[in-house]
Amino acid sequence: PIDNLQLRNEIKSLLKQKDAVLVAHYYTEDAIQELAEETGGVIADSLEMARFGANHEAKTLVVAGVKFMGETAKILSPEKTILMPTLEATCSLDIGCPIDEFSAFCDQHPDRKVVVYANTSAAVKARADWVVTSSIALDVVNHLVDQGEKIIWAPDQHLGGYIQRETGADMILWDGACIVHEEFKAKGILDLKAIYPDSAVLVHPESPESVVEVADVVGSTSQLLNASKVMKNSTFIVATDRGIFYKMKQASPDKRFIEAPTAGSGANCRSCAHCPWMALNSLEMLRDSLRNASGEIHIAEETRVKALIPLQRMLDFQI
Ligand code: 13P
Ligand code: SF4
Repeated sequence: PIDNLQLRNEIKSLLKQKDAVLVAHYYTEDAIQELAEETGGVIADSLEMARFGANHEAKTLVVAGVKFMGETAKILSPEKTILMPTLEATCSLDIGCPIDEFSAFCDQHPDRKVVVYANTSAAVKARADWVVTSSIALDVVNHLVDQGEKIIWAPDQHLGGYIQRETGADMILWDGACIVHEEFKAKGILDLKAIYPDSAVLVHPESPESVVEVADVVGSTSQLLNASKVMKNSTFIVATDRGIFYKMKQASPDKRFIEAPTAGSGANCRSCAHCPWMALNSLEMLRDSLRNASGEIHIAEETRVKALIPLQRMLDFQI
């Protein structure tokens, strides 16, 4: 709970004691985002989390998000201790792309560049030519198209399909999906739009094509946040995890933000506009990871050095 003063103070002093900084994703709970803000950490999308962690001088990074975000931090900063409130926080995209199957799939298409989304294990990254996040994927794939390259894309089929349509790239797609974004429904969004005619629809590209089609803006979490700031609409229908509302409301207190409808509802809905793995991050677990140095990320050095190559390629990429 956001008013848990003692716990928050404990975390603040542990961060100082351990020379640690908090790196939080937009989908974590408000209290964690607030703490990141108050302690000189960052609230960010997955690309900005990687950049911030790699450039920060703290000895320890506490990554509040899902496992691939902690692994990315470790790949980039092996000398730092990377802690996570829980190592149970995974991602359906990561789970749906096991390294052995993926590697065999790549072996079948040796003529293609392997582009993987950041939401993958270190081992999958180690098999890739490029790692991308949703905020940079279009630019990287456009660059590969200019170079005449054909592409294997994994694991998110919806993001891959969106990029394929936008860039005209020759892409073979892995069939993974995000259990949160794949639930958004275009019909429900259009029904809401009819109720709020002045609204704009903001969509994360992990959503299905039919949902992307009704979007006014398609983008990564930070791109959607930015759109909500600069657009003049009074109401925004948002097809991404509702955790983003913390920053959207803070930046634009006079605007209305509404969750895009999903197929399920109420108690039957495990992942309606909120990632169940992101939700595992709690203040208590954050405190415990700092206190006990639990939830530490370790990656075999052989895998790490291989995964660093496509990851660094992304960070060095400029349009
Ligand atoms: P962003 O890179 O847009 O923050 O996305 C990460 C993610 O897991 C979205 O579901
Ligand atoms: Fe993975 Fe989807 Fe959760 Fe993001 S929201 S971490 S893509 S399951």
